[in-house]
Amino acid sequence: MKRLVDGQKEPSLDEFDISIRPSHLDEYIGQTDIKENLRVFIKACKMRDEVLDHVLLYGPPGLGKTTLAHIIANEMGTNIKTASGPSIEKSGDLAAILSTLEPGDVLFIDEIHRIPRYIEEILYPAMEDFVLDIVITNNDGSSRNLRIDLPPFTLVGATTRAGDISAPLRDRFGITAKLSYYTDDELFQIINRTSKVLGMPIEKEAALELARRSRKTPRIANRLFKRVRDFALVFEQDTIDAEITRTSLKRLKVDDSGLDQIDMQYLEALITKFNGGPVGAQTVATSIGEEVTTIEDVVEPYLLQEGFVKRTPRGRVATEKAYHHLNIEYDPNNSNK
Ligand SMILES: Nc1ncnc2c1ncn2[C@@H]1O[C@H](COP(=O)(O)OP(=O)(O)OP(=O)(O)O)[C@@H](O)[C@H]1O
Ligand SMILES: [Mg+2]
Repeated sequence: MKRLVDGQKEPSLDEFDISIRPSHLDEYIGQTDIKENLRVFIKACKMRDEVLDHVLLYGPPGLGKTTLAHIIANEMGTNIKTASGPSIEKSGDLAAILSTLEPGDVLFIDEIHRIPRYIEEILYPAMEDFVLDIVITNNDGSSRNLRIDLPPFTLVGATTRAGDISAPLRDRFGITAKLSYYTDDELFQIINRTSKVLGMPIEKEAALELARRSRKTPRIANRLFKRVRDFALVFEQDTIDAEITRTSLKRLKVDDSGLDQIDMQYLEALITKFNGGPVGAQTVATSIGEEVTTIEDVVEPYLLQEGFVKRTPRGRVATEKAYHHLNIEYDPNNSNK
């Protein structure tokens, strides 16, 4: 079964996602510094009649990178073309995308860290000088370089793994923004906005409860809202109240801190199988049958942020908070700590 609170992308955007996705900076809740800076940069570009500098957005899944890329295009009043790192397998794929660009376009490349290095090099002159350098192989086997001018455009790159981006690529982004986890109050606002957009009222206490249990992530807040809405519908309630929210979350196995089954399995393995660590992420991942990338990109960032786990040079270590959360006695004298 698909994990409910994994923060991973939806396989495809349905009507629900599109309707609740904010389309302008004013509707984008939280990330105040990023938003206010972007507002200034966008205004300045428009005053100078230039394109916006390239933007790199990074942070854990579901915090609003794709949403922000679309907002940038909307605010600039330009079109957005989208591509994703894994789908760019040959230099020709990237060249083809670049050659469709029109003046002022935003080119959004999701999972940009997954573009192979040798293909990535095509981006350097494209980003810096708006040119596309391609090598043409003649019939006789000889080759020549061809340089094609590109229109000015803005590359918006998104990644959950900033560390995997090569330094030359990173340096070519004029604007870099790290998205952070949302506060409960911001999630509360997001849930209320979603409730209005979808025309399904939610009581304050219920919205607060959902906000608290959303792993500080808008995608999860919206996904939980969607599920609770299903329960409300089936139980013939026209408003989402605290009771139906708690009942639904219980049935969905989302606990008081928003941790779900995989989070709990991870913590339990760390504590019971590996004596609280230190242990490598790969080892824990294997022991619970998960991909290490899921553990590193989705599970751990939140557990680290919330202080359930610490990262040490020798591996992951469960904190006292994790022991308490699992009702397991914590022994500070344990030699591993
Ligand atoms: N600041 C925000 N205000 C309101 N809603 C938001 C905000 N950020 C994200 N959302 C909602 O959360 C959902 C997930 O956001 P988005 O798809 O942009 O995340 P992402 O960072 O691109 O994730 P991934 O790394 O998986 O691609 C969106 O559909 C949007 O409705
Ligand atoms: Mg995205």
